[in-house]
Amino acid sequence: MQLRRTVAGAGAGILTLFLLSVAFPGGEAAAAVKNPTHNITKILAEHPEFSTFNHYLSATHLAEEINHRQTITVCAVDNAAMGELLGKGLSIFSIKNVLALHVLLDYFGAKKLHQITNGTALAATMFQATGSAPGSTGFVNITDLKGGKVAFGPEDNSGDLGSSYVKSVKEIPYSLAVIQISKVLPSPEAEAPTPAPNQVNLTSVMSKQGCKVFADLLTESGAISTYEESAVGGLTVFCPLDEAVKTFLPKYKNLTSDGKASLLLYHATPVYESIDMLKSNNGLMNTLATDGAKKFDFTVQNDGEVVTLKTKVVTARITGTLIDQQPLAIFSINKVLQPKELFKAALAPTPAPAPAPEKEPADKKKTKKHKLSSPPAPEPFAPEGEPADQKADDTGSGGRLGVSVAVAVGVGMGALMALFSF
Ligand SMILES: *[C@@H]1O[C@H](CO)[C@@H](O)[C@H](O)[C@H]1NC(C)=O
Ligand SMILES: *[C@@H]1O[C@H](CO)[C@@H](O)[C@H](O)[C@H]1NC(C)=O
Ligand SMILES: *[C@@H]1O[C@H](CO)[C@@H](O)[C@H](O)[C@H]1NC(C)=O
Ligand SMILES: *[C@@H]1O[C@H](CO)[C@@H](O)[C@H](O)[C@H]1NC(C)=O
Ligand SMILES: *[C@@H]1O[C@H](CO)[C@@H](O)[C@H](O)[C@H]1NC(C)=O
Repeated sequence: MQLRRTVAGAGAGILTLFLLSVAFPGGEAAAAVKNPTHNITKILAEHPEFSTFNHYLSATHLAEEINHRQTITVCAVDNAAMGELLGKGLSIFSIKNVLALHVLLDYFGAKKLHQITNGTALAATMFQATGSAPGSTGFVNITDLKGGKVAFGPEDNSGDLGSSYVKSVKEIPYSLAVIQISKVLPSPEAEAPTPAPNQVNLTSVMSKQGCKVFADLLTESGAISTYEESAVGGLTVFCPLDEAVKTFLPKYKNLTSDGKASLLLYHATPVYESIDMLKSNNGLMNTLATDGAKKFDFTVQNDGEVVTLKTKVVTARITGTLIDQQPLAIFSINKVLQPKELFKAALAPTPAPAPAPEKEPADKKKTKKHKLSSPPAPEPFAPEGEPADQKADDTGSGGRLGVSVAVAVGVGMGALMALFSF
């Protein structure tokens, strides 16, 4: 019963989003990232007692997911409570699950918390929404106790409501509530060891499901290592089906090596987006190719169940899901995405002259979204004509393919060590 209610709440959020997007069509032009609704990092930064919680929301990329949600409650815990959680020595992926359990997919401001119908409710959470949570785990039981106290407990924890409401931190009715609760919600499921996402073999997932030509281009060019590095923190890939890539190959071969690399990196975004998130969060999306002034973005737009990706040149449609396992999602699309930075825009009826650059920018783009960059390697070992800008592949030695695994693992370890020296 209560479940249905919270789901209805989320539905209302989506409706709000829909209304907003109708009210401001095309108003997204200035946004660097797909119209975030909130900035949880900024909100929590005003409260030093939540600095550890805030740090981990960013480190796990949950902050981005929170920022894009329309109806959400974040149950923050103070630095002492986070210290206890960190003392358990969980991997960053398990910490992400635990924190995701603290993000309720409905609005629970202080007033609403104290007026829960029948005094108790189950709230869906971001942990449950990712599908990583088995059964009814991932729901949080909120119960009004005598004397105005409101208790919280994970549904899988046999009625232990050991954490309680402390105070309201920030409320934007009925969209975002940030409240403090006394303790981390204990959940064996959320804390369970989670396989690192970089153990998934990206190219083999693609190759087995109709995107082999694209996967081969990723491997050949070395762009795969940028994909693998990103997969540690969150990655969504839109891979064109074999037919589409084959048709496109002449144009691809015409690109400079820099252009090829940008085109391949253009097909992924460094955040996790489930199909539901794509459906409910239309707008501009940055890609792995986005680099300062070079926007390399496209617009996500859905029409009912159909999700399209629009560049100024082409409109592609999502045709299937190859894998959706937070923090990694790979979708197939029916066309190669052509960025306006590399290809002439389709003739539009508008009077805008928009002189598309005839040749690709040939300048170096060394900072191509290597999120955890390491010092620049000496000089590229690129054989003639091969992508010269893959030099950031972090190792002096050759053998790109084998090396890329080590890089991905190394980056993961580095991230963990950085986090735990915190
Ligand atoms: C959110 O705020 C933080 C801290 O003020 C800032 O560094 C970050 O760029 C902001 N994020 C967005 C998406 O605006
Ligand atoms: C509240 O409790 C009553 C009586 O047990 C029940 O009929 C009703 O459905 C409950 N309301 C909700 C929203 O769960
Ligand atoms: C929440 O937990 C309490 C205590 O175990 C229980 O009485 C109540 O029924 C639970 N609420 C829901 C909505 O399941
Ligand atoms: C992925 O699988 C392919 C073939 O199945 C293999 O050649 C490649 O080395 C694997 N990549 C990684 C990163 O393990
Ligand atoms: C390749 O580039 C040349 C010179 O810019 C152009 O004439 C030709 O049409 C291009 N071929 C394809 C397939 O785009």
